[in-house]
Amino acid sequence: MRYVRSLIIVLPLSVFGLACEGDDPVDCRTDGANCSVREAAVQAGVQVGAAFREVSATDDPKYLPALIANFNSVTHEHAMKWAATQPQYGVFNFDEPDRMIELAEANGMAVRGHTLVWEQATVDATPEYVTAITNPEELRTLMANHIRTVVGHFRGRVDAWDVVNEPLDTLGSEVYQNIFYQLMGPGYIAEAFELAHEADPDATLFLNEALVSDDGDKFDALLALTADLLVQGVPIHGVGLQGHFLTEAPNHDELLANLQKLAALGVVVELTEVDIIVRGPGDDAARLERQRQEFFDMASACLAVEACKRITFWGFTDRHTWIDSFFGPDLAPLPLDENYERKPAYFGLRDGLLSGP
Ligand code: XIL
Repeated sequence: MRYVRSLIIVLPLSVFGLACEGDDPVDCRTDGANCSVREAAVQAGVQVGAAFREVSATDDPKYLPALIANFNSVTHEHAMKWAATQPQYGVFNFDEPDRMIELAEANGMAVRGHTLVWEQATVDATPEYVTAITNPEELRTLMANHIRTVVGHFRGRVDAWDVVNEPLDTLGSEVYQNIFYQLMGPGYIAEAFELAHEADPDATLFLNEALVSDDGDKFDALLALTADLLVQGVPIHGVGLQGHFLTEAPNHDELLANLQKLAALGVVVELTEVDIIVRGPGDDAARLERQRQEFFDMASACLAVEACKRITFWGFTDRHTWIDSFFGPDLAPLPLDENYERKPAYFGLRDGLLSGP
């Protein structure tokens, strides 16, 4: 709490170069050099977001000013997952996300909630007391209480929720047989959306999936699942494509086509967890230039689709990224470098945000 309050008092918005009352806003289309990605996003009518880590904000004085100057949306990287919000059966804790939301509200940033239901073998987002359940009615009651309590707590302050994260097999295209599926059947997805909608009728509710930016069976399965939920009358309003471009670079045309196919169903679409690692041959300059083009390709695909309203990065500075611990060092997947300087990727992103109609 302390760091949030002191930051708000000590650093008014104008310090970050944001448009304040009385300031002349920068016109990004004519004054590109002075324009931040946040200003570009505002002019384009979209949001640009980042995953947030409280420990980085507390330990690193450069973190919050850079976040606030460049982004108008935040998503907590872990503190709104089940293991954090209900760490023990029936015991809830919202301290950390509450502090992030206070920061977001004081600085004109939207909040994306991530995530209500996600059980996956390789991460510990769901506690063992959930995966140990064997009685379907017990799990149904627990899931209902979790969603009602969490969404109810944040009602009106979180504009969008990833209701179900990664519903499909990571490397396949079947519905993933997590504990909810095993005990409640495939209908657990619809039930989760109904519960979230009752708890906050104004929130935009998302399915969020990984490895679906390119053409392929997994994307087709996601499209079919979304269409099926809509036909059933389930209150699903959006689909998130995670966008961890680790093994392949963004393919502009395939990403654009996928966004268009989802938009044609009548849902909003977002790129929800973007990181694009540096890759390919050449020296550092060549690799960073390639990454600039890839950021542009990704952002311009979103901006070409009316229903694509937000791009969220999974972090924002190469100093603090999950990629380092999960996939190795020096993959530099984010728009600001380790010293919070703008990388070529930053400018690729900004140009992509300004490329819309
Ligand atoms: C990751 C976080 O970045 C890590 O810090 C954490 O330990 C594991 O989860 N897909 C998701 C995110 O939906 O929640 C994951 O975040 C990254 C992959």
